[in-house]
Amino acid sequence: MKLNAGILGEIRAKYGEAFYLLDSVQFRENFCELKSTFSKIYPYFNIAYSYKTNYTPRLCKIVNELRGYAEVVSEMEVELALKIGVDPKRIIWNGPIKNLKVVEEFLLQGGIVNIDSFEEAVSVKTIAERHEEHILNVGIRCNFDVHDSVLSRFGVDVDGRDFIKVVDCIKNTENIRLVDLHCHFAKRQIEYWPARAEGMIDIIDRIGMIPKRVDLGGGLFGKMEDSLKEQFTSIIPDYTDYASVAAGAFAEKFGNMVDAPELLIEPGSALVGDCMKFAGTIKTIKCVRKKYIASVLGSQKNISMPGVNPPLEIFAMGEKQQKYEDIDLVGYTCIEADTLYKGYSGTLACGDMVVISNCGSYSLVMKPPFILPNFPVLDISNGEVEVIKRGETFDDVFRTFCF
Ligand SMILES: Cc1ncc(COP(=O)(O)O)c(C=O)c1O
Repeated sequence: MKLNAGILGEIRAKYGEAFYLLDSVQFRENFCELKSTFSKIYPYFNIAYSYKTNYTPRLCKIVNELRGYAEVVSEMEVELALKIGVDPKRIIWNGPIKNLKVVEEFLLQGGIVNIDSFEEAVSVKTIAERHEEHILNVGIRCNFDVHDSVLSRFGVDVDGRDFIKVVDCIKNTENIRLVDLHCHFAKRQIEYWPARAEGMIDIIDRIGMIPKRVDLGGGLFGKMEDSLKEQFTSIIPDYTDYASVAAGAFAEKFGNMVDAPELLIEPGSALVGDCMKFAGTIKTIKCVRKKYIASVLGSQKNISMPGVNPPLEIFAMGEKQQKYEDIDLVGYTCIEADTLYKGYSGTLACGDMVVISNCGSYSLVMKPPFILPNFPVLDISNGEVEVIKRGETFDDVFRTFCF
C-alpha cells in the first residue's frame, strides 16, 4: 500500500500517534530473492533467519513456510521457534551462553546446537552420556581472522588447542554428530567475505570431514535508499555480490560432489531491514538560541539508526506548514542526543507525520521500556491494516514488579 496522508490519518486516529509499519510482502520477496540468488550458483543452499534481528512471529512464520531454518541465540528464541511450529531439526542454536536444561531437551528433540566453547562441548558430552540411545546433532562456531580488525569473542579459535579438544570430544563420543560448521562476522563489507568462505573450506580440509552444513553467518547489508547508502564510507554490496563470493567459492570447491555440504547464511538485516517503517507525529517545534528543534512522538530507540540520517518522509496532515532550514527532529526521551534526523530542511508543522524507512533490524527487539511502552506494529502490505503487535501498556511494563 502506497502511503499518503489520508491512510496515515486513518491509522493514527485508530492506533495512536506513533506506530511501526511492517511490510511482510517485502520480507517474503527478500527471502525468495536472496535464496534464488545464491542457489543459482550453489544449488544446495538455504537461509537461517536470525530471529534476534526482528523476532516478530509473523516474519518467523514466513521463514518456516518458505522452508528456511530458524537461527536462534537463546532459550527464549528456541521457545518462540517451537511455538511457531518449526521442526526442531530446522532450528540452529548459536550463542555463547545457553541454558543447559533447555539444551538437553532441545538436543533430544533433534535440534542443532552450535558449540561456542570447550566448556560447552564438555556439557554436551555429559548430556550425550546420559542419553546413549539418542544421536545429538551439534556444530562448532569457528573463530578465525578475516582481517576485519575485530578480535571476536565468539566461538572456538580454530588455531588454538581448544578447537582440537572440541573436535576430539565430538569425534570420541559415539552419539554426537558434527553436522554444522559455523562462523559469523559482524562487518558487512564484501571484502571480508572471501576470507569467511575460504576459512571454512580450510577448516573442512583440516578436520578431514565434510559436515552436513556449513554456515557462513549473517552480516550482509540489505536493500536501502541511495540517501542512506551515501552515508556509508564503503560500497554497499547487493545480494548478487555476496552470492558470487560465497556461493562461488563453494561451487568451486564442492561442485557436483555427492556429499557436498549445504551452504547456509544467517541474515537478519539483509532480509528485514527494509521491511519496517516507523511513523511518529511532530508534537512541538521550538527555537532555542536560533536553532529550530521539532519533537517527535518517537525516539532513536524506536529506529536504532544512530549516527546516520535515516530515509525520511514528512506527510502534511492539515496544519499550516512553515519552511525550516537545518531543523533537528528529536525524540520524546530525556536523552539530549536522542535525535532521529539532524538538519532537516523543508516544510513542517506540528501534527505532521514523520515516516522513517529501513528500521526493520535491531529496532523493535532493542527498544527498552524506557519512559514509554512501545508502539503498535501494523502490517498494511496486503492492502488492509493488520495488527501484528498491539501497543504496549503500563501493565506490560510493570507486571513483573512487586507493588
Ligand atoms: C551468529 C549470528 N548470526 C546472524 C546474525 C545476523 O546478523 P545481520 O543482522 O548482520 O545479518 C548475527 C548478528 O549479530 C549473529 O550474531
